[in-house]
Amino acid sequence: MIEVSNLHKDFGLKQVLRGVDLKINTGESLTIIGQSGCGKSVLLKHLVGLLEPDKGTVFVDGEAITGAPRKQVYQIRKKFGVLFQSAALFDSMTVEENVGLGLFEHTAMTPGERAKRVADCLEMVSLNGTQKLKPAELSGGMKKRVGLARAIALNPQYILYDEPTTGLDPITADSINDLIIHLNEELHVTTIVVTHDMVSAFKISDRIVMLHLGTVIFSGTPSETKSTSVEMVRRFIEGEAEDKSVVTHY
Ligand SMILES: Nc1ncnc2c1ncn2[C@@H]1O[C@H](COP(=O)(O)OP(=O)(O)OP(=O)(O)O)[C@@H](O)[C@H]1O
Ligand SMILES: [Mg+2]
Repeated sequence: MIEVSNLHKDFGLKQVLRGVDLKINTGESLTIIGQSGCGKSVLLKHLVGLLEPDKGTVFVDGEAITGAPRKQVYQIRKKFGVLFQSAALFDSMTVEENVGLGLFEHTAMTPGERAKRVADCLEMVSLNGTQKLKPAELSGGMKKRVGLARAIALNPQYILYDEPTTGLDPITADSINDLIIHLNEELHVTTIVVTHDMVSAFKISDRIVMLHLGTVIFSGTPSETKSTSVEMVRRFIEGEAEDKSVVTHY
């Protein structure tokens, strides 16, 4: 279980997180929504110790990752697989090298064992036989899948996805949604997704939370989210701008 308690983070004069409280239960599929720039990626980075808060704590299975010594942070980080917003593949490396990087750095596997594990992970994301390709030869959807194969290579307990479907066509996006659900159910991982894509959020989530002005302003199941009377959530789902006068005065 992950417990975020009273998390605060400023960048210069900009207050991004202003007291985030959030519990993420083991095995659940949680989606974090919120406007661009509201701090979703910043929050994810705190979960894996890539950022240190100004105040507050993140507990991972009861152990504080915030404020922990480097060595302990690395240890806790092994529980996570992360699909970054940009997929973050190394352009000069092949698919096989990208997916196998964590295995190379963190395990004592032989090259043969690594190749087998990479092949298994590529199969899980339906990219069999792509080992020798370079990122430049891949479509956007394929890059996300390779990023995902890399994220699952070390058998994580938690997988974080930052905008896994953004920039993909609806059909490719839906295949990524299916994959996220499959990994959550098949590998029994806890899934944490950040997205603007409400079709995806409704499909993959057990629970949806909304981040607004630095705090969590809503938490509910997909059906509770659809029928909520919380104004900000309703507007977000319907894609309605806050200041309607800008439009009506045209
Ligand atoms: N390392 C950093 N240094 C300074 N400011 C940062 C840093 N990281 C994030 N920010 C700022 O924090 C705010 C939140 O950024 P974040 O990337 O978390 O937004 P987001 O909710 O993920 O947005 P999007 O949906 O567009 O990805 C932004 O104003 C951003 O400029
Ligand atoms: Mg982001």
